[in-house]
Amino acid sequence: MLRDEAAFFSSRYEDAVQEPDAYWQRWIAEAETGGTKALFVAVDDDGTWLGVVGGFVRVSPREVQLISMWVAPEARGRGVARALIREVAAWTTARGSETVFLFVQEANAPARALYARAGFTPTGDRAPIGGGRLGFKLVLSAPARHVLAAYDK
Ligand SMILES: CC(C)(COP(=O)(O)OP(=O)(O)OC[C@H]1O[C@@H](n2cnc3c(N)ncnc32)[C@H](O)[C@@H]1OP(=O)(O)O)[C@@H](O)C(=O)NCCC(=O)NCCS
Repeated sequence: MLRDEAAFFSSRYEDAVQEPDAYWQRWIAEAETGGTKALFVAVDDDGTWLGVVGGFVRVSPREVQLISMWVAPEARGRGVARALIREVAAWTTARGSETVFLFVQEANAPARALYARAGFTPTGDRAPIGGGRLGFKLVLSAPARHVLAAYDK
């Protein structure tokens, strides 16, 4: 994901592999309890991973950041990302938060279409991608209830 499609993500593979196993084990343990972190994996009938997404309460308990959205190239166009976003929105309301926000690169047209379809709108904030790369990332947000309502139609 990070290595093969680095252009879409702010996090860099080179940095991620530097983290000790304990860092990732702690992340997963926290996601298992569902307190401030969540990880959703879409799997095929045979257990093959089709896609992942994370949810992360970072600053305000009212806001969940949607992170690490990725669908395997061979599984795209089948509604996997749509299902994963729905899970993050459901987790957001279940934990008592209200808003889902995320960063998306301005040039990432498929992801921007995905989020627009899910009801996300630009907050107006944007920041350089960083890491020596050109371009900007935008902040999008949506009330979790609106996302769920849009998907339940
Ligand atoms: C963006 C990404 C997550 C979409 O995953 P997906 O499972 O193919 O998306 P879905 O099939 O659930 O599509 C849902 C909606 O997104 C939009 N969409 C998805 N891919 C699109 C594309 N290539 N072009 C235009 N719109 C697209 C469509 O509006 C679609 O709704 P529709 O079926 O009603 O037309 C996937 O292409 C991916 O992993 N890309 C690389 C990583 C990435 O960019 N992650 C996001 C970082 S912010």
